Amino acid sequence: MARPRRLLLNALTALTVTMSATPLLAQKAAPEVPRSVGLPYAARNLPDRVVLTPGADPSRNMAVAYRTDLAQTATEAQIAIAVDGPTLEEKARTVTGSSRAKDSANGAALYHQVRFSDLTPDTVYAYRLKGSAGWSEWLQFRTAAAESKPFRFLYLGDIQNGILTYASRVIRQAFHANGGIELVVHAGDLAAQRDDLDHDDEWGEWNQAAGYNYAIVPQIPATGNHEYVDLTLPNGQESRKLGPYWPLQFALPDNGAAPVKATTYFVDYQGVRFIVLDGTSALDLGTMEAQTRWLDDTLATSKAKWNVVLFHQPVFTCARPNDMAEIKAAWKPVFEKRRVDLVLQGHDHCYSRLTSEAGRAASAAARATGAIQGPVYLVSVTGSKMYALNDRARTQPDKTAEATELYQIVDVAGDRLKFRTFTASGKLYDGFDLERGSDGHNRLTETTEPTIAVRTCTGRTGPDGGRCVSRGK
Ligand SMILES: [Fe+2]
Repeated sequence: MARPRRLLLNALTALTVTMSATPLLAQKAAPEVPRSVGLPYAARNLPDRVVLTPGADPSRNMAVAYRTDLAQTATEAQIAIAVDGPTLEEKARTVTGSSRAKDSANGAALYHQVRFSDLTPDTVYAYRLKGSAGWSEWLQFRTAAAESKPFRFLYLGDIQNGILTYASRVIRQAFHANGGIELVVHAGDLAAQRDDLDHDDEWGEWNQAAGYNYAIVPQIPATGNHEYVDLTLPNGQESRKLGPYWPLQFALPDNGAAPVKATTYFVDYQGVRFIVLDGTSALDLGTMEAQTRWLDDTLATSKAKWNVVLFHQPVFTCARPNDMAEIKAAWKPVFEKRRVDLVLQGHDHCYSRLTSEAGRAASAAARATGAIQGPVYLVSVTGSKMYALNDRARTQPDKTAEATELYQIVDVAGDRLKFRTFTASGKLYDGFDLERGSDGHNRLTETTEPTIAVRTCTGRTGPDGGRCVSRGK
């Protein structure tokens, strides 16, 4: 029954709709791609898929992306400094933006983007978005302070698989158990975008998984290889291109490396510079050199106390036979030279916290003598796909996990950065503190809070006593 409506919508919007989905006839011939149960993701007469993103200076700039049905042609938001009574409309100003249409198996939709500028630092604002049936509810966020100020952020590895079924509880547990999360960073592969589920359904699930949290807490996403879709070049060669959802879902700062502006950027938030790189473009699309140069410049000009770099393919792998040689060769020396504090990654569908390439024992021995700490390399995973640990992962990282969904809470306060890793059900799994010394270097202390036992598979048995769900890579 959905098809005639969809044809009609397509006809109505033939001039404006970006037909990035496969044409209908071709779709008919293609193998059936599984759909989300109940088909809940058609665009409606009220905004959905609302994602707040920070401007490069989130004390003054924020942006929002959302989706409506085609009837809401105007992109219109209202924003006001939050008051405590139900009178937000009185002093709200209207901000307009731009929109782009997108067809999908859920029908056509308009994706809108609005940028809020000239905001006051460290101030609570409320905004609402226009749909053809009326306004959304008021959604509330706080701008960053203009200077260093303690804050908390959430770091998520690959959501990618079992997005609604499994990853949603991890994200919800993170928000439920940890008040005051002011930012969320995503280390890539937010959705799978292969043949396991219709892509529009995947993005519907991704939005449903965190719901209004994406609309009230700014999101800092990095691309993974799954944000790219396959492309056959005119000469028949296989290549990749950025999938259509990325630029629609995220209104990101336009301050990245010149050839990869859609997927590289930085954000300064209360004394932390977050730098986002695109490993897939670096590895497969020839932008490694440009990104490395930009990374070095962006770190050199950083006035932040802490520098955190976020990307997908890890420098040190916990699942694959070999480390990402090109990334390691290009970026690790820059991280060390410029004293990056945290390197947040995904891709390997296991957990790893690595503080020394020489291994866990060497790292602990060095720490015992007061050695300074270089970049700490993290890999984590949120969704349901799991890879088995490789052999090195048993001695090289300080801590690892297999077949475990996780989230990470990071508290930054002055000279101290507190990093805690929790399992899906909220148990403390790993933790360390970085302390900035008067010499400008970090020292790492392991948490003394009780953590649960190390989680790995034993033969075919998983850490929860059932089957091991991690597969060898
Ligand atoms: Fe992944």
